[in-house]
Amino acid sequence: MAKLIDGKKLSEEILSSVAVDVKKLNEKGISVSLAVIIVGDNPASRTYVNNKKRACEKVGILSHEFALPEDTTQQELMRLIDELNARSDINGILCQLPLPKHLDEEPVIETILTQKDVDAFHPSNVGHIMIGDFKFLACTPAGIMEMLKSEGIDVCGKHCVVVGRSNIVGKPMAMLLLKANGTVTICHSKTKNLQEITKQADILVVAVGKPKMIKGNMVKQGAVVIDAGINRDENNRLCGDVDFAQVEPKASKITPVPGGVGPTTIAMLLRNTVTAAIIQNNL
Ligand code: GUN
Repeated sequence: MAKLIDGKKLSEEILSSVAVDVKKLNEKGISVSLAVIIVGDNPASRTYVNNKKRACEKVGILSHEFALPEDTTQQELMRLIDELNARSDINGILCQLPLPKHLDEEPVIETILTQKDVDAFHPSNVGHIMIGDFKFLACTPAGIMEMLKSEGIDVCGKHCVVVGRSNIVGKPMAMLLLKANGTVTICHSKTKNLQEITKQADILVVAVGKPKMIKGNMVKQGAVVIDAGINRDENNRLCGDVDFAQVEPKASKITPVPGGVGPTTIAMLLRNTVTAAIIQNNL
């Protein structure tokens, strides 16, 4: 039986350390604040945004929500970001993705000032992650690295297989594992013989957005399995990209969904927001 990696507990530990840092800044007269933009009424995005705001409250970060209607134009959204870029009382800016289909995400991301880009989505911050010299962490991958560290899993020399090549998770995940001296293989929807590759993984990270796609016969006995997926199954229950019932007996350690990767992602976002405040105050 696999040991469950408790993302909720780890996130609480990270949030406690973030709260200490926020308090220290407050004592110097510096407040820490995050602007959260949400466009339209995607229910999953609404849940994520509410969770982020609640976490901000817990650690003493001021959150400002900007909820824009579904029919917001590209220009209106960019104008809001320009205003938030110019405000000295806003340290971090996050625009919840995905945006409604008529909006182009790339120019939106590129409009956010790099020093306020707490998601680390701006091409400049992505480039820093690629080089291995970064201030802002890619939130989901960084949370996963914290999990591996807290479980005493040494990535060095391990075969790490990342399934999924999104800008948010797959690509930066591969970079962080590489920086930790893992041997990294990235798989995606066009990969041939996926099972042959996933079966070689010592550490398997899955972020594809397909419910229960990774089956027991795709995982090596004793592998560490990290599931960054969050989906609804046929009974409308939350589930990951990994078929937990099949994979858990084979894995040595595995993250549950919910309660695994999700909470650590938010914790890393708030850590980035503190970093943004520190940078902007020249500390
Ligand atoms: N949509 C899904 N994950 C994320 C995230 O980490 N940040 C933002 N801004 N949008 C997302």
